[in-house]
Amino acid sequence: MKAFLTRVTYKTDMVKQTLADAGISFSMYEKDQVCPRNLLLQQAAVADAILTHTEDNIDAEFFAAASPRLKIIANMGIGFSNIDLEAATAKGIIVTNTPVEQAFDATAEATVALLVSVARRIPTLHHQRISSGQELNPSFLNPTSVAIRNKTCGIVGLGRIGARVAKMMHKGFDNQILYYDAINNSQADQEWGAQRVELDELLQRSDFICVNIPLMAATKNLVSAEKIALVKGNAVFINAARDGIVDEAALVKRLNNGELHGAGLDVYTDEVNNICYDNIALTAHLANFEDEAYTAMSQTVANNVVAVLNQQTALTPVNQVA
Ligand SMILES: NC(=O)c1ccc[n+]([C@@H]2O[C@H](COP(=O)([O-])OP(=O)(O)OC[C@H]3O[C@@H](n4cnc5c(N)ncnc54)[C@H](O)[C@@H]3O)[C@@H](O)[C@H]2O)c1
Repeated sequence: MKAFLTRVTYKTDMVKQTLADAGISFSMYEKDQVCPRNLLLQQAAVADAILTHTEDNIDAEFFAAASPRLKIIANMGIGFSNIDLEAATAKGIIVTNTPVEQAFDATAEATVALLVSVARRIPTLHHQRISSGQELNPSFLNPTSVAIRNKTCGIVGLGRIGARVAKMMHKGFDNQILYYDAINNSQADQEWGAQRVELDELLQRSDFICVNIPLMAATKNLVSAEKIALVKGNAVFINAARDGIVDEAALVKRLNNGELHGAGLDVYTDEVNNICYDNIALTAHLANFEDEAYTAMSQTVANNVVAVLNQQTALTPVNQVA
């Protein structure tokens, strides 16, 4: 049995060992780059398992090139929009993803880390100290931070990640939790005293706003310019979900006017180039990019391949084949 990995990945040796222990031979595209198309199509014809990344385009052309021996596409990541699921299912090929708990934990921690660093103005102070080359001399007229404790935290999308953010903010900082979601979360209501409210109310009442809702037709521009105008002065605004949910131009305008305490964005468009307000923390869509999460994801990819090639049920399938 042969497995092909499309790109060197985190803990490749661990993946290789897991497969070797199960008698599966392993090859890969050795570079830390997207696998060339011709190599991908060539491997579709000879491999029993292909271990993919979300930037690999596993489309109809790929499945046309696949031989009957190909049994599994094991995708590294929670998403799998890079894969033509219908074509895979029609060919009897299992597709798996890696929805590991550690990845949700990591993204929630990254959300809270952005919130804390912006509330405490850490990126700004760091940048000022480094760029001035001298001891900072802040004015006593303008405290640099706002308190995190005993505030109201509004979470837009109380799913796997949002609920973790709620728990951390409630248990760690005694925050009152408001949330906007299509579904009531009775566990959050009971355990953390969370309150489900309409989006307008959440934006008007929250000191901290965390966007953790998926991007889809119904949530595109959900936090529109009109909604951004409702955010109360001195609030901290965090988006660790996707760009496209928040009207960034409106957010940038309020930041530049000094109307918010700051913003932390893991996802954004080039609109951020227009920010001249200094209390902003930008990361680079790296919220779940941590040792523990990536180790668990790599292990899940390998375990799925071993299971399917041994005619067992995949751990985390996203389609069903006969
Ligand atoms: N920044 C990163 O690196 C990173 C990493 C992982 C996930 N994400 C993003 O975080 C998002 C949330 O992830 P999750 O695992 O918590 O998702 P999830 O599916 O567990 O939760 C989503 C929540 O949003 C709610 N929701 C969905 N559509 C809605 C709508 N139209 N109106 C109101 N509520 C709605 C759902 O009811 C659910 O409670 C993902 O979709 C992804 O875009 C970002």
